[in-house]
Amino acid sequence: MVLKAELHCHIEGAALPALVESQAEKYGADVSAFIHDGAYHWHDFSSFLAAYDAAANLFRSEEDYAALAETYLTGLASEGAVYSEFFTSPDHAERAGLSPQAYTEGLGEGIARAKAKTGIEGRIIVTGVRHFGPAAVEKAARFAATCGHPLVTGFGMAGDERSGHPRDFVRAFDIAREAGLGISVHAGEFGGADSVEAALDHFAPARIGHGVRAVEKPDLVRRIAEEGVVLEVCPVSNVVLGVFPDFAHHPFPQLYAAGCRLSLNSDDPPHFHTSIGREYAVASAHFGLDETALTAVTRTALEAAFVDEETRRALLLRLAEAEAAPAVAG
Ligand code: ADE
Ligand code: ZN
Repeated sequence: MVLKAELHCHIEGAALPALVESQAEKYGADVSAFIHDGAYHWHDFSSFLAAYDAAANLFRSEEDYAALAETYLTGLASEGAVYSEFFTSPDHAERAGLSPQAYTEGLGEGIARAKAKTGIEGRIIVTGVRHFGPAAVEKAARFAATCGHPLVTGFGMAGDERSGHPRDFVRAFDIAREAGLGISVHAGEFGGADSVEAALDHFAPARIGHGVRAVEKPDLVRRIAEEGVVLEVCPVSNVVLGVFPDFAHHPFPQLYAAGCRLSLNSDDPPHFHTSIGREYAVASAHFGLDETALTAVTRTALEAAFVDEETRRALLLRLAEAEAAPAVAG
């Protein structure tokens, strides 16, 4: 099995429908408006975000989050993942009545449990939610910068990228960068190439969440390749949310051929009926990546990970050893 690494998954968006239903039972809530027949139901990006918010609201204690992270990471490891960075949202925790500190402690506990069981390494990227406004995003950045949790290694911004101007969020990213955190920002998903260019100009991120609509502007694609900015590509999410009509129209192959550094990610896996394994399978079936190319995608993700150098070296060594080992039949 090709070893995998994931850099882009929203932890609340990774909650399986059955887990959300059991949380709803525990807290006396009704989720039938957006979960039925064992699956999430919504019809566009705005109703997806609403379902996401409603599911997140049912995780209310440190233990709820520990169990969520442990379940998600254990599943990821079973598909061959050796490393995961997931996005957290202190705003969602506060809206559910939990302090950002307790929320992060719970998630850290889940990462530790999954690592003990499977060996998977996990790190946390705190995000602000763009459509909650610049003040909220800055507050999230301050939390990320000061929380002191050893597994918090990055800061990012998710949410509706059509909301607000990039200049309004510059301070938040400066706070995070000055605290030594890695920077990743969502752009080029529902915003076009200009949103990717604006993100590069205003936030100087090491990585862009999605970024795929950069393909609309050849000069920008060249810039991304030259500057070595890593795109956290989420193919199934893009097709399910209608960013591209199907895999045949997805720009992964063009961006790859242009020399852009790309990783593969599941974004909000059960919402999109995907998993890290499916993303790699899609890249194999639709983008022509063989095992060597898929392993190179994992290598890119590990090179771009917001992780200490000792851990990165160990993960890269594990990848090299797996690649060198003869394939085992059966
Ligand atoms: N939050 C959760 N999933 C997201 C996505 N695909 N884009 C922007 N914000 C998100
Ligand atoms: Zn995302």
